[in-house]
Amino acid sequence: MRLGGPEPIRQRHLARGKLLPRDRVLGLLDAGAPFLELSALAAFGLYGDGVPGAGMISVVGTVSGRLVIITANDSTVKGGTYHPISVRKHLRAQEIALENQLPCVYMVDSGGAFLPLQSEMFADREHGGRMFFNQARMSAQGIPQVALVMGSCTAGGAYVPAMSDEVVIVRQQGTIFLAGPPLVKAATGEIVSAEELGGGDVHARTSGVADHLAEDDEHALELARSIVSNLPVPVQFRWSRSKPAMAGPDRDVALANLLPRDGGPIEDMETLVRLLGDEPEFQEVDGGEGRSLLTCRTILSGHRIGVLAERGSLDSRALRKAARFIGQCQASGLPVLTLQNSGSGDESPQSQEAMAGLLATVATCETPRITLIAGGSIGMASQAMSGRSTSPRFLFRWPGSRLSAFERELAAELFRHRPDVQGVDPFEVWDREADAYYGTARLHDDGLLDPVETRDALGLALEICRQS
Ligand code: COA
Repeated sequence: MRLGGPEPIRQRHLARGKLLPRDRVLGLLDAGAPFLELSALAAFGLYGDGVPGAGMISVVGTVSGRLVIITANDSTVKGGTYHPISVRKHLRAQEIALENQLPCVYMVDSGGAFLPLQSEMFADREHGGRMFFNQARMSAQGIPQVALVMGSCTAGGAYVPAMSDEVVIVRQQGTIFLAGPPLVKAATGEIVSAEELGGGDVHARTSGVADHLAEDDEHALELARSIVSNLPVPVQFRWSRSKPAMAGPDRDVALANLLPRDGGPIEDMETLVRLLGDEPEFQEVDGGEGRSLLTCRTILSGHRIGVLAERGSLDSRALRKAARFIGQCQASGLPVLTLQNSGSGDESPQSQEAMAGLLATVATCETPRITLIAGGSIGMASQAMSGRSTSPRFLFRWPGSRLSAFERELAAELFRHRPDVQGVDPFEVWDREADAYYGTARLHDDGLLDPVETRDALGLALEICRQS
């Protein structure tokens, strides 16, 4: 997945004097500073498993001392074309930028829409055109948009630089046009090279689309670092941060050992909270009520946070406790970390009422929320406990976690209504669809976290949220 396209195509890319997309991203980031890759396994198992990462890399990290979000097309994967999941990945990166006021750097090297699937990503609101709408809205809000044209930028893709605030194009390599030379020939009979039609010289010297002409990829990255260094630094943060405590290898190993091997719930959520925190101590809140939910305050990577950790199926008392605790966090400006581990409990009228109350609280909560699906995430609590539909700032999963609308035990009964899986073992179907790899491939989350990198990833996610 991390390598991108097939070896011969990568070699062809290098022979053209271009850096591979991952090296472009790493070359732009401040050396040694932490970064967070989003949805690295997008499109895993989809499109014949031939579009690793959905053909693009999406990373939040530090450039010239500022947190930015970077999207980089991977032209070694089907010419860097956009598949429906790539569009979702790009839009999700922009959504993160909007919510967290992050400048965007787009490394463009793409043949535009993957034409056989164009009907699935052109017409609707959350389809390709939304990228440009978002760019305009972000610029209007003062969120800078920077484009580095490092390869092809064809058709709709041409609007990424056109809608950006500042544009770098690489000489003899970057091209921007709505229709390439073959279409020009078909339409007018004229034979023209890509460089003449929309290369660096055309756009940096004549059309005005590009502001800087770079000699090569390295030069483009240097120019981008300089552009970002001139962007304003955030002057206000949502909360103050203390010096983070470093985790030792023992803690990382202990975290890895908590990973459920059989897809079952994590037995000891208190230990998970202790291991995630800078100090083992946490302050439990409302300890006597709803024992299946642990609600507490702790410090993670120097950020003071409120934590909701599911110890078992949530009954009406636990659901009410969750809503009350989120209200308390909101009142004191604490960000909320939800550790999902089991999901809904009984379907009693009391639970339904408590669930509705929790949904309303979560939906109107202004404090940043981050969710980690560590174990199970089943039934309506999967959503009400800051699931994807409630727009937490970030949602991650551990690889062994399960997510489904209903418990595995109900699969045989409920899959009777699915004509597409008749004759297949219903439990096998449930296992496949509840699996973390199935979900992350479809962008139901922002990525799978290795337990040993979970503390760092959550710490950086909190730092991103602190900016706005
Ligand atoms: N839709 C579907 N497939 C596309 C594509 C598109 N828009 N653009 C490229 N591809 C595919 C190619 O068919 C090829 O597939 P293969 O590996 O299965 O043979 C692969 O992507 C790589 O393309 P290739 O032309 O060999 O790579 P390249 O690096 O030399 O050139 C482009 C890349 C993008 C410059 C070139 O393919 C191109 O100009 N594509 C057409 C772009 C276009 O007209 N887009 C309109 C979108 S609305």
